[in-house]
Amino acid sequence: MTGPALDLATVSPEETRAVGEAVAALLRPGDVISLTGDLGAGKTTFVQGAARALGVEDPVLSPTFTLVREYRGRVPIYHLDVYRLERMQEVLDLGFEELVDRRAIVFIEWGDAIDVLLPPERLQVELTLPSDGQERRLSVTWYGRSWAARIEPLAAVLERWMV
Ligand SMILES: Nc1ncnc2c1ncn2[C@@H]1O[C@H](COP(=O)(O)OP(=O)(O)OP(=O)(O)O)[C@@H](O)[C@H]1O
Ligand SMILES: [Mg+2]
Repeated sequence: MTGPALDLATVSPEETRAVGEAVAALLRPGDVISLTGDLGAGKTTFVQGAARALGVEDPVLSPTFTLVREYRGRVPIYHLDVYRLERMQEVLDLGFEELVDRRAIVFIEWGDAIDVLLPPERLQVELTLPSDGQERRLSVTWYGRSWAARIEPLAAVLERWMV
């Protein structure tokens, strides 16, 4: 179950953080958010905003070299970056299946690299760089019943960035 993507544009890192915050208002424990798209497009920046809205006070740093970072917000938050992953087994060794549980919210940069491991219910945010400047495009796609029920409020909070 899916529907048309919500297409957004931002013109600064802080605006991409604000989009992350707006999405976070709709997030619930158990959610998985896959971030895809161009290198350096703003995936980590988006997670910084979402984490801030979820009550994380620690700085959110890129997990590129650590594979996963854990934050304590109102719920446990796991932030993965699977870009450097060489084998799918590395994600399984990390206990990926236990990270995706009913208590936590999981953000995965380059989530498309581990598509087969992702739960069918998820949100995907594809970030792209249309030019050399600070503009970014964000294409938000949802999958599954639990997101179908939230798509209207999601579209409402994202309306100001829609293109
Ligand atoms: N509109 C924007 N949204 C997000 N980031 C922006 C924007 N404009 C400029 N930037 C800058 O682009 C960079 C985005 O870096 P960020 O680490 O968030 O991207 P990323 O997609 O996680 O990169 P990587 O592919 O290396 O994981 C930052 O330096 C940020 O300040
Ligand atoms: Mg990143």
